[in-house]
Amino acid sequence: MNVRVGRLKLKNPTMLAAGVLGTTAFSLKRVMRGGAGAVVTKSIGMTPLEGYHGPVIVETPAGYLNALGLPNPGLHFLSELEDLQAVADRTPVIVSIFGSCADEFVQLAQAMCKYADAIELNLSCPHARGYGLEVGSDPAIVESITNCVTDAVELPVWVKLTPNVADITTLGQAAENGGADAVVAINTVKGMAIDVQSGRPILANKFGGLSGGAIRPIAVKCVYDLYSVLNIPIVGVGGITQYEDALEFIMAGAHAIQIGSGVANEPTIFEHVSRGISEHLKRNSTTLEDIIGIAHGR
Ligand SMILES: Cc1cc2nc3c(=O)[nH]c(=O)nc-3n(C[C@H](O)[C@H](O)[C@H](O)COP(=O)(O)O)c2cc1C
Repeated sequence: MNVRVGRLKLKNPTMLAAGVLGTTAFSLKRVMRGGAGAVVTKSIGMTPLEGYHGPVIVETPAGYLNALGLPNPGLHFLSELEDLQAVADRTPVIVSIFGSCADEFVQLAQAMCKYADAIELNLSCPHARGYGLEVGSDPAIVESITNCVTDAVELPVWVKLTPNVADITTLGQAAENGGADAVVAINTVKGMAIDVQSGRPILANKFGGLSGGAIRPIAVKCVYDLYSVLNIPIVGVGGITQYEDALEFIMAGAHAIQIGSGVANEPTIFEHVSRGISEHLKRNSTTLEDIIGIAHGR
């Protein structure tokens, strides 16, 4: 079930989403063995960050609310990436990066280039002060950062978009105008939980980003809307735990999908989801390419 996302060829349309099991070569290799078509690393910045103090995650009835504060090893992550080079039959590695300005994104992309198959720009973290949403909700900034990175590296550049704006398509168009190979939709949705005994927010950061089943309909709508206006491929992410969820995204217009929260309960989820998609295609005598965007009824 080979699939292409722009210039990147994958053995199946499932990928690990950024931020979950993506900080060490060891955990990334585990996901590769679990059948993922590609892995996306934790978002990496210029310098190591510890992230926020706890509590950083809250379980909700249909997913997780997190405000980790982008903890990451900074450029020390290069040694983990080097370690992955040795894996035979290597699954493509997409390195997610974040920065506070175009120059930081360019420096990070250039540093990661040697070990990455694509770069994903995290322009969408809802709870990291000075990063994420603060740079990713303005189409002009999205276009300019994308442009600077695509000019600086040969690798495919994907842009991860936030749903925390009135119209995600303006951000998608900005990424496309900046030369992105693909967009990834969506990052987490802003949310909050309050401890009724103390009357205080549970997360140390007060608010965070909601992931998991609760956001799937929001993410599917974002992919559907993006497909209506973009010429570049879309990677769908948000609340996928079974193959039917992945098919929803593909039918809305995604070429491939990513799974984050769903990995927590089932490390072999990639194998199950890609097998389910493949069997669905066989049962219906169709191909992946034929069902991308069919919900639009064109
Ligand atoms: C604990 C956690 C950490 C995350 N860290 C990142 C990150 O570093 N970079 C990023 O772009 N997205 C990050 N995300 C967002 C996910 O990649 C994904 O976009 C979102 O969770 C929706 O997918 P899901 O419902 O399958 O988890 C994180 C999500 C979770 C739950």
